[in-house]
Amino acid sequence: TILILDFGSQYTQLIARRVREQNVYCEIHPYTLRLPEIEAIAPKGIILSGGPASVYEVDAPKIDAKLFDIGIPVLGICYGMQLMAALLAGGKVHPATEREYGHAPLQVLSKTDPLFEGLSSCFSAWMSHGDRIEAAPIGFQTIAQTENAPIAAMVDTERAFYGLQFHPEVEHTQDADRILANFTREICGCRNTWTMRAFIARATAQIQEQIGGERVLCAVSGGIDSMVLATLLHQAIGDALVSVFVDNGLLRKNEVAEVIETCKQIGIPLVAVDAVKPFLDGLAGVIDPEQKRKVIGAQFIETFKGSVAEMAHNFRFLAQGTLYPDVIESVSVKGPSATIKTHHNVGGLPSDMPFELLEPFRELFKDEVRAVGAELNVPSHVLGRHPFPGPGLAVRILGEVTYERLEVLRAADAIFISEIKAAGLYDEIWQALAVLLPVKSVGVMGDARTYENAVALRAVTSSDAMTADWARIPPDVLARISNRIINEVQGINRVVYDISSKPPSTIEWE
Ligand code: XMP
Repeated sequence: TILILDFGSQYTQLIARRVREQNVYCEIHPYTLRLPEIEAIAPKGIILSGGPASVYEVDAPKIDAKLFDIGIPVLGICYGMQLMAALLAGGKVHPATEREYGHAPLQVLSKTDPLFEGLSSCFSAWMSHGDRIEAAPIGFQTIAQTENAPIAAMVDTERAFYGLQFHPEVEHTQDADRILANFTREICGCRNTWTMRAFIARATAQIQEQIGGERVLCAVSGGIDSMVLATLLHQAIGDALVSVFVDNGLLRKNEVAEVIETCKQIGIPLVAVDAVKPFLDGLAGVIDPEQKRKVIGAQFIETFKGSVAEMAHNFRFLAQGTLYPDVIESVSVKGPSATIKTHHNVGGLPSDMPFELLEPFRELFKDEVRAVGAELNVPSHVLGRHPFPGPGLAVRILGEVTYERLEVLRAADAIFISEIKAAGLYDEIWQALAVLLPVKSVGVMGDARTYENAVALRAVTSSDAMTADWARIPPDVLARISNRIINEVQGINRVVYDISSKPPSTIEWE
């Protein structure tokens, strides 16, 4: 295990993903984790993350300096490095006069240090810092520099302590994965034991032991997490698993049939619940996006409780696709952050349900779930699917959600997606969607004037949905999509393409 202590950097989860990509297991904990707890984890190495604070601030997050006496290699990144300098004798941090942000050519000064093994002697490093190191602590030597940071990397070889002013976890740093691989493998001696195949074997044994022949209920949405979860469970416990699928009427064209078909293919027993009417009744007259999410969240719980109540005595466990990012107790940079959108997930079930929870993916990142799915032969059209929000098409119909408007949107969306697939663009696009606007405009069809709805198309590229850019779909593909939608979908006479990036816009329109 590599232990990552979090000081509130926006990149902390990225460090963990990069370490896991090296097939090395790691955990993120807040920097407040106490020494005995750290010793109980018995990590082979510790990474101190970056963070927004300045080490000499009164309330700056600190760790117990005894951490440096327990004989475990430490890598401090950015704030983590500055903290090492502040806590170890002789180190000095220079408060910022200005921030350095962006690419900087980094010159490696040591030819022999294992951290930079395999890297060229000058590479581009990603900088994002205010303070910098003025004097390295006693016992350290400088092993890399940039123009603005004379001590861009430092090492105490004897104790295997490293400090990096730049961010080896972000893609912008050249050969970034090599640096973290060198630290975890060469310096800490971790082996490549964290593989999804090993995870599946371990999870299967654990699930079998935990449920001991009792039955498990699993809610599937057709999305990656729940489908992979159901597949893993089915493989582990066979027909002791029953999956429930709620048709809330807010799904895409043919989606219900496809989910049923996929489950059938995999062999997962499925109970489909038709809840279209209660969902649409609940949404009648609702216009505010957050109100829509509340109504849908509440109705989902109602439906689940209702349909499950009849079966409850038959089940002891409820399986959920909770992922590691939901579990990590990260140090929030912004404090209680402003709610931009409340994300309703299947996860938000009430705690008074008569089940014990089964959450086999609690330690996995999303890309790891996808890898587990591939290992379990989950069909690639499921694993490669664009994300789809829990509230479904309700947040893609601006204004009131009605059955008629849903049908119009479903038709337009299906054309958009099928044309993107036909053009071979689906996989390079993170998410593509159609939005029905509460706008009517004038058009002309044949000789007649029309006065109909407008639809907006949105397609973005992204690697994690935190930031996104609009996809540069070739104009001729857009032209074909627009023609088809206007000709084939009754009720639409205008198509526009959304060219906003996130931030400042979001991916969904509501
Ligand atoms: P935004 O629109 O905030 O979306 O840029 C980021 C990602 O989250 C998805 N999304 C949701 N997912 N419930 C969900 O389960 C929601 O209420 C919700 N709202 C947005 C969105 O589709 C994108 O992938």
